[in-house]
Amino acid sequence: MKKSTRVNHPPQVDVPAGNRPVVAPIYQTVKFEFETVDDTLRALSGEQPGFYYLRSSNPTTRALELTLAELQGRDDCLVCASGVGAIAQTLLALTRQGDHVLCFLESYGPTRFLIRRTLARFGVSHTLLSIGDLAGIEASLAARPTRLVIFESPTNPINRVADIGAITRLAREHGALTLLDNTFAGLHQHGQFPVDIYLHSLTKFASGHGDVMGGAVIGNAALIATLRPDFSTLGGVLDPHAAFLLQRGLKTYFVRYRTQCASAQRIAEFLASHPAVERTHYPGLPGAPGHALARAQMSEFGAVVSFDVRAGAQSAGRVAEALQLFAMAASLGATDSLVLPPQLLASRDLNDEQQRQAGMAAGTVRLSIGLEDVDDLIEDLRAALAAAHQP
Ligand SMILES: Cc1ncc(COP(=O)(O)O)c(C=O)c1O
Repeated sequence: MKKSTRVNHPPQVDVPAGNRPVVAPIYQTVKFEFETVDDTLRALSGEQPGFYYLRSSNPTTRALELTLAELQGRDDCLVCASGVGAIAQTLLALTRQGDHVLCFLESYGPTRFLIRRTLARFGVSHTLLSIGDLAGIEASLAARPTRLVIFESPTNPINRVADIGAITRLAREHGALTLLDNTFAGLHQHGQFPVDIYLHSLTKFASGHGDVMGGAVIGNAALIATLRPDFSTLGGVLDPHAAFLLQRGLKTYFVRYRTQCASAQRIAEFLASHPAVERTHYPGLPGAPGHALARAQMSEFGAVVSFDVRAGAQSAGRVAEALQLFAMAASLGATDSLVLPPQLLASRDLNDEQQRQAGMAAGTVRLSIGLEDVDDLIEDLRAALAAAHQP
């Protein structure tokens, strides 16, 4: 074999049976081969196990899918290149011209964009309600056939808690699918409800380190099987190296998530008693509107704390700038704490009245709590709130 041939056909090193690597290797390959045409065809039709092309599956991405499905308490999962990719591909796979979907003011902005702009172009209509408006949800479902209800809990950015039991019950009664973006609640919560599809941005708590993007769609095998061909063709596939990093992130997920939630609770309590803060939005606070519901349906209350600075937007912006330990940056769920002031948080697709209904105030600030010492974070907030309020 000439050297130029050898470098394209390197020697294969097989690991002997009984000599497994402790950390699963990364299958950084797009293609898999079989010896025969028949074996290839059998694998493609699902008659025999095997991999063919990364856009459909790969052992590294598949291992991540199986882990995530188990965490969420369902049997199957599809991973994709980002959380938004997971939402977009699911919406495109599940809807057709003439369908109607129900969505909410209190949700991640790009989710509304996908429904109100992208799906609208393909003849899918929508109703936009507030997540606490159960009467409105029931009336909307009764008024017209609805393909799906897509919602979050707690909601981005102000942590409203959806009544998941009531929403899933109403949707089932009216033949609509439920899609829960469970990113804020984490990968292990809300499995007790009959939600049809859980959506996650893996970029947040699964990655945990702010260095890799991914998304997941989790549900029962039959429903995931109907999505699989669309996902393979829409093509927003997760790279195996990203899947490896996400799988590695999951090893510390529970330790990180629970520590971050405990710190978030203490920070929410500090903010709730601070004179410069008008309202604190955290479901773990006994006085929070969603507290009883959150206690009934969650084991932890999340690592995002939002609060309204009494003096309004400019002052809130100064608080964000004055913070030393919170980076002013998008995203959440990583080991480092982050802050977003109202200027960077407000949803541009909502008018002032809709922003108000969604609970956003002029001075709403969102914090994502990381793994720094919580006393240091509280001191940083105390100093920033004081600095921003000096005359
Ligand atoms: C609730 C929620 N869903 C989805 C996403 C989108 O995730 P990604 O950034 O991985 O596309 C985000 C991102 O902030 C989010 O907060």
